[in-house]
Amino acid sequence: MSRAVCPGSFDPVTNGHIDIIGRASRLFDEVVVAVGVNQSKNRLFTADERVEMLERACAPFANVRVEGFTGLVTTFCTEHDVQATVKGLRAATDFDYEMPMAQMNAALTDVQTVFLPTATGTSFVSSSLVKEVAAFGGDVSAFVPDFVLERLTTRMAQR
Ligand code: PNS
Repeated sequence: MSRAVCPGSFDPVTNGHIDIIGRASRLFDEVVVAVGVNQSKNRLFTADERVEMLERACAPFANVRVEGFTGLVTTFCTEHDVQATVKGLRAATDFDYEMPMAQMNAALTDVQTVFLPTATGTSFVSSSLVKEVAAFGGDVSAFVPDFVLERLTTRMAQR
């Protein structure tokens, strides 16, 4: 069985992530979305909230499941019998960020990295920009699912 992982912090999940996860689900028998829960970056949403939103976002994909993870992506892959990581590439800056990680992961294990170009409609969408625009009251409804938008609106109002 071919199995891939889509790792990320997903703070929060965007339509761009969902596009990549959906396309990965058509390339592999099984896809595990691995939500990094021990990163140092300040998060808007807790690990449980991020996992919950992803579970909802991935519900349409029968062969996709969501798990939180700590430690190295390569360790997660070994422990879950995963052969590949799938990452979306929006622009050259993503390539510069992702390439050394892909090469390091390949040096650590034989896990392969598959890069998927993002859809043109989501190539400018990132969790960071969505949060920034939402923080200043901008309309991000085109970039995240409705239930994420609700969570974002509530969280921003609490700040
Ligand atoms: O969405 P992000 O913030 O780009 O996701 C980053 C994530 C979680 C995929 C990355 O930080 C990660 O892989 N962390 C696990 C630690 C690890 O494996 N580091 C070595 C990479 S070569």
